[in-house]
Amino acid sequence: MMQLGLTPEFYELFALAVMMAETVIVVALMIGWLYGARRMNFKLHHRAVYPAVLFHSITVGAWMIPIALERLPLMLASPMENWYQIAHDTLGIIGIALGLIMVLMFVTKKEMPLKLLKRTRPVMLLTVAIWVISFILGAYWYLIGHVFV
Ligand code: HEM
Repeated sequence: MMQLGLTPEFYELFALAVMMAETVIVVALMIGWLYGARRMNFKLHHRAVYPAVLFHSITVGAWMIPIALERLPLMLASPMENWYQIAHDTLGIIGIALGLIMVLMFVTKKEMPLKLLKRTRPVMLLTVAIWVISFILGAYWYLIGHVFV
């Protein structure tokens, strides 16, 4: 099926690039959590998560959302068959919204990052969990849509 007016070759190429970018992003997020927040290295935490959220917003905004919109009627026509797409898109929207809210809070409240980090900890863990589940569903989607077709 033609997506976003791209030729099949370009579509495959972009999907692979997005898959690779999302893998790097999720690894950066895990580094920010495990080596940054958990070891109280907040500088590392911020350095890892800000670019992760920024680059992720670009891949979601420029690639995933346009495709999701194009695919919406097809997806909703057989929801049981496309359960992983519906779960991916729904959790993905929540994940990116939480990520963006966290980043905006830290960028605007520079004077109290430590206190803020402690207070927002449960929300950050929830964000990471939702993010990782969306990533796994996206990788599954990539595999059945592009590799094992
Ligand atoms: C934490 C959030 C998210 C993560 C980690 C994530 C991750 C991924 C990954 C790894 C892929 C496979 C690469 C590809 O096939 O292009 C993918 C595909 C996709 N994602 Fe997401 N995603 C997220 C959020 C979203 C959101 C918010 C939407 C739209 C509502 C969305 C829609 C899609 C679509 C339509 C595809 C399939 C593209 C294709 O045809 O191959 N994703 N996602």
